[in-house]
Amino acid sequence: MSEFRITRTLPEDAMAAALRADVQKGLTSDPKTLPPKWFYDARGSELFEQITELPEYYPTRAEREILAGRAAEIADALPARTLVELGSGSSEKTRHLIDALPRLHTYVPVDVSDTALEQAGRALVAERPGLNVHALIADFTAGLALPRSPGPRLLAFLGGTIGNLLPGERAEFLASVRALLSPGDALLLGTDLVKAEDVLVRAYDDGAGVTAAFNKNVLSVVNRELGADFEPDAFDHVALWDTTNEWIEMRLRSRTAQTVKVPALDLAVHFAAGEELRTEVSAKFRKDRVSVELAATGLELERWWTDGEERFALSLSVVR
Ligand code: SAH
Ligand code: AVI
Repeated sequence: MSEFRITRTLPEDAMAAALRADVQKGLTSDPKTLPPKWFYDARGSELFEQITELPEYYPTRAEREILAGRAAEIADALPARTLVELGSGSSEKTRHLIDALPRLHTYVPVDVSDTALEQAGRALVAERPGLNVHALIADFTAGLALPRSPGPRLLAFLGGTIGNLLPGERAEFLASVRALLSPGDALLLGTDLVKAEDVLVRAYDDGAGVTAAFNKNVLSVVNRELGADFEPDAFDHVALWDTTNEWIEMRLRSRTAQTVKVPALDLAVHFAAGEELRTEVSAKFRKDRVSVELAATGLELERWWTDGEERFALSLSVVR
């Protein structure tokens, strides 16, 4: 019999305090910023799922192609009994891995989005009798503790979400992931790859405006949670390629000079006309950079798989 459990490792008031601290810091910085983890309320998670189906947004299709083609090789290299997935969202592509792991006992999806975890977890236990799903509502950048479950463990971080962390955050995150793994466990990491600028920019500025709505959704989250009076349509969606850092940057550009109130923080935030608020970076990688960053935390890039067009890569590091 399968079992579905959902555990909140961060109490709701701690999440609310983290949002307040991030908004206070980000909106009083120069330039202004907001961290991307706050995109993902129920509507943001739904908008992200729509993004994954856009003709311009290739990463999901490219990674699915790799997983569909290589799941058996991955399972052979690491016959996991526990599969942990950080930022699991809908767990849609993960089904390829779950189905390829014959000894899998427990799947641990970890996400800040409780709605995504509920939907994905309930669907999985219904579809896969015998699989235990222990979902964690948690921030994977904030000292993750995993439930007790049999090893070996495969820790998957898919979708290229690692690219949404800034370089310093990324190093800290990788070190914390390494600390969760024991000899015989492995990290499976999905990274989007550097490619032509026009392809990249189109993926983050689609014709249907879904990414624009996703970007502006963070303002609605701040309105709802902190009583702010952001008018999302008073901002334009901006996506640009930063050649030096090799990342896509998403911003919201204020159409006019305006002041936004955030009552929960007793804050009034002035935006000049044309001023931009950075809401996300999405770093794109080369194999060397992935290898160097893994090595810095004591992990070795052992296997490297790409899709046929070399748009996206999955790498596997087994802890020895
Ligand atoms: N892995 C899925 C979803 C990617 S979207 C895929 O490849 O399609 C990114 C997911 O990470 C979202 O579900 C979001 O809620 C989650 N997320 C973002 N930042 C997070 C954080 N700091 N801690 C936990 N989950 C996070
Ligand atoms: C979740 N993450 C990998 C996505 C990305 O491509 O950086 C989030 C996203 N932002 C805009 N479109 C999709």
